[in-house]
Formats: sequence, structure tokens, C-alpha cells
Amino acid sequence: MKIVFATGNPGKIREAAEILGEGFELVTPAELGITEDLPETGNTLRANSMQKADYIYKKTGMNCFADDSGLEVDILGGAPGVETARYAGPQRNADANIDKLLSEMARREKEAAMARTNGLSTAKAQRTARFRTSVTLILNGEHHFFDGVMEGTIGTKRAGKGGFGYDPIFIPQGYTQTNAQLGDSVKNAISHRGKALRAMAEFLNGQH
Ligand code: IMP
Repeated sequence: MKIVFATGNPGKIREAAEILGEGFELVTPAELGITEDLPETGNTLRANSMQKADYIYKKTGMNCFADDSGLEVDILGGAPGVETARYAGPQRNADANIDKLLSEMARREKEAAMARTNGLSTAKAQRTARFRTSVTLILNGEHHFFDGVMEGTIGTKRAGKGGFGYDPIFIPQGYTQTNAQLGDSVKNAISHRGKALRAMAEFLNGQH
């Protein structure tokens, strides 16, 4: 089945091709001459994934899907969440985003340690976090939604060269290495996007 993946992120395209397998011919917006940034101005992951899919559907009339993902860090009260891509600014730079996340977490950890020293709290700072993704599929003009979550913790420094985005600091639950160390096939088997895209593939395979 031919389907457009509404993203310009080569890391996501590589992952989706592996997750969806040979039954799907993935087409990218760039291959259709659409090179501008896709709109994502919503307040939720679902609103953003829908906005990106709608944009491509309106332009091409083709079956398509988009994902929008966010990282929730517990010690930061769930931030950066829907702001994950632009955490360190509109340039969406992965390195700057990681630097900002690590320094914000270090600041909060220091505050929590101080509160413990002063007897104001007994809480120990946690580094738990999760990636969430929302996938919007537009099939024959109708919307369908698929979600996925990957639990884990945030490492104190970068490790590994694989993956993209925050992968060098995200350690999935049950593992001791980061996503960037584990590599695509381990990551895809357990990731937020892997879960949502496999649910989408199951739905599509059941359509015919
Ligand atoms: P978006 O879904 O493209 O808007 O991505 C939101 C932000 O999360 C970007 O900074 C991505 O780099 C990051 N991100 C999304 N999925 C992953 C992932 O699987 N690993 C690491 N970072 C990710």
C-alpha cells in the first residue's frame, strides 16, 4: 500500500520503513515536492499530528499519516511535553535541546537536595520520563488515531550514536543503555512510535 508519511525527519522515516515492513510503500512530502515545514501549532500531540496529516491530505489527496511526539520528564512536571521539539528555541536543535534538558534537571535536583538538607522535604529527585506519540492516519478522507508510550529514565550524560533527537539520553525501562546505544531494531520493538505504527499497520492490514 502506498502511503505518505507527513514528516521531514529522516530518522522517523527510517524507523517507520522498518516498523511497517514491505507491505507499505512510504512516500515522503519531499518526494512530492513539499519541502516547507509542516504546521504544528496545536496544544496537544494529537492536535499537532492531525494538523500535519491534514496539511498533506489537503495538498495531495493521498492516504497519509503523521506523528507528533513529546517527552515528559517527571522532575520537570511533565515538561517539555508538546514543546519537546522547540525546548531550546525555534531552531529545533537536538543538541541544544539535550543541553537544556540536562541543565534544567540538574537545577531541579539541586533544589530537591537543598529542600531535603533543610528538612523541607524527604522526596528524592526522580529521573523518570516517557515518550508519547500520537499518530493520525487519514485513510480515504477519514481520520484514525493511534497512540504509543515508552517509559524510561533520563541519563546524566549522552551515550551512543544511533537514533535521533533525545535518544542519546533516554534509557528505556528494563535496559541500561540509551536508545542511541541500543540501535534501531531494539528501539523500534519497544518505542512509542513502534507501538503506534504497529497498531496502525494492523488496522490497515485488516481493511482489505
Ligand atoms: P516531533 O514529533 O517531530 O514534533 O518531535 C518532537 C521532539 O521529540 C523532537 O525534538 C524530536 O527530536 C523528539 N523525538 C521524537 N521522537 C523521538 C525519539 O524516538 N527519540 C528521541 N527523540 C524523539
